[in-house]
Amino acid sequence: MTNVLDGNAVSESIRDDLADCIDTLTHEGVTPGLATVLMSEDPASETYVSMKQQACDDLGIESIHRELDADAPAGDLYGVVDELNADPAVHGILVQMPVPDHVDERTVLRSIDPVKDVDGFHPENVGRLVAGDARFKPCTPHGVQKLLAAADVDPEGKDAVVVGRSDIVGKPMMNLLIQKAPGGNATTTVCHSRTRDLAEKTRSADILVAAAGRPQFIDGSMIGEGATVIDVGVNRVDADTEKGYELVGDVDFESARETAGVITPVPGGVGPMTITMLLYNTVKAAGIQEDVAVDLP
Ligand code: GUN
Repeated sequence: MTNVLDGNAVSESIRDDLADCIDTLTHEGVTPGLATVLMSEDPASETYVSMKQQACDDLGIESIHRELDADAPAGDLYGVVDELNADPAVHGILVQMPVPDHVDERTVLRSIDPVKDVDGFHPENVGRLVAGDARFKPCTPHGVQKLLAAADVDPEGKDAVVVGRSDIVGKPMMNLLIQKAPGGNATTTVCHSRTRDLAEKTRSADILVAAAGRPQFIDGSMIGEGATVIDVGVNRVDADTEKGYELVGDVDFESARETAGVITPVPGGVGPMTITMLLYNTVKAAGIQEDVAVDLP
């Protein structure tokens, strides 16, 4: 029997524990605050940001939202970030990516105060992650790590293959999997668009993380018998539904589940975990900035 992981259930349990952390903070007079910044008219980005705000509201995190026109000058965005950096009610800042072409993404990421960088994308936080001293683990790979732990899949000594080398998922996923730390210690290969013999490599994986952003391109024939398959992909494809599209992963779920031992669905797998780990980082950020010890899950 293939074990289909329930990301919503694992998320719920972590969010329950985070609620206790928030109680600890509020007892000390601190309400954690997350600022989301959107400079895009992309409907998917708008949806993600509103889901993040809703999750904050549900848990008792104050959510602050700033929106800029997609054609506003880049300086306007830096101005908003400066203002949020200086606001003591804001413990976490998230600028939804991608930003428009005329805005330099690297400059944006560097402008966020590293102590408020709940995405973990500022070079200081990337460096700390690589050095094995993470402050904020990036939300999606951290969520994958928590899902694996909840499914009792310990990466230690296993062969892990990550497909995709993005700064948001692939690279930090690799860094978490190779760390000499719980949830790490895997022998890790990162595949990408220039990889030769991709299927041979993916078939050799005990743990396969698909994060390439290509709909359903990993099928059952690319998966080893009994492997753990984590699908990070969220792709909108045209479909005869009310919205005119449906969400599919990077993995062809129906064929993959025939071979996989453990698999995540899309939606309902990694997606909810990403938002949960953003809440986690916001609570952590509030604890650091307000000097309150919180017992994170
Ligand atoms: N765009 C897609 N994923 C993410 C994420 O995790 N954080 C931000 N800021 N933007 C994203």
